[in-house]
Amino acid sequence: MKINVLTLFPDMFTPLQVSMLGRGLEDGKWKLNLVNFRDFTTDVHHHVDDTPYGGGAGMVLQIMPIKKALDSLKEKGKVIITAPQGKTFNEEMAQSWSKEENLTFICGHYEGFDQRIYDLADETVSIGDYVLTGGELPTMSMIDATVRLLPGILGNSASAVEESFSHGLLEYPQYTRPADFEGKKVPEVLTSGNHQKIAQWRHKQALKATLLHRPDMLEKRELTIQEQEMLNEIKAELNE
Ligand code: ADE
Repeated sequence: MKINVLTLFPDMFTPLQVSMLGRGLEDGKWKLNLVNFRDFTTDVHHHVDDTPYGGGAGMVLQIMPIKKALDSLKEKGKVIITAPQGKTFNEEMAQSWSKEENLTFICGHYEGFDQRIYDLADETVSIGDYVLTGGELPTMSMIDATVRLLPGILGNSASAVEESFSHGLLEYPQYTRPADFEGKKVPEVLTSGNHQKIAQWRHKQALKATLLHRPDMLEKRELTIQEQEMLNEIKAELNE
C-alpha cells in the first residue's frame, strides 16, 4: 500500500516512521509519500492561502496548490480530507481502507479550506467532535489504524484479529506476572490451565466491559443465545 499525504508540515510525520510502522516502511510493507503542497505555488512568496471572499477573520487555503499537488501524483487512490465536519473515523473504515492499493490524505492547517477543495476528495473524515489546529494528527491516527492491519505489520498477526472493535466487543482484561501485586490477584481461572474455561471467562469479560463502557456497541451487535445468557448473568452479578 502506498499512502500520499499533502501537507504544509511533512516534518510532523515522524511518529509514523518509528516502531512497528517504521519497520514496516523499512521492510517495504507500505510506503509513505509526503508532499508539501507549498512546493506547487507559483507566486514569489509561495502563498497557499488568501483572505476569504465576503470578508471575515482568518485565511482560507486556496485550491490551486492542492489541485496541482494532487495532479502530480501517479496513483491517488481514495482521496480523504480530514476536517471536523466529516463523518467520524472508525475501525470499519480502517479495515476497508487497509484493502486499498493507494490512499491520499489532504491536511489543512490553522485555517479552512476553500469549499471547492472538498470536491477534489472522495471523503471528508473527522476523528471526533473537537477541533485541532490541523489535519496532520488526525491523518497520522487514521494511517496508524489502517497500516497496522496490513499483513506483517504487527508482530503477532492474531493480535489484530482478537482485539477491541474488530468483533464488536471491547477487549477482555489481560494480566501478566506477578500473579499477586500488593494483594491484587490475577483471576484464578487464568492460572488454571483449563483453556475452555479461560476462553469462556474472556468472552464474558469482553461482554461485561462492553456493557459497562460502551453499551451502544451491544445494541448494534446481534448476540448469540450463549452471549445473551452470559449478559443476563453479568447483569444479575452487577445487581448483587
Ligand atoms: N482538523 C481539525 N480538527 C479535526 C478533527 N477533529 N478531525 C479531523 N480533522 C481535523
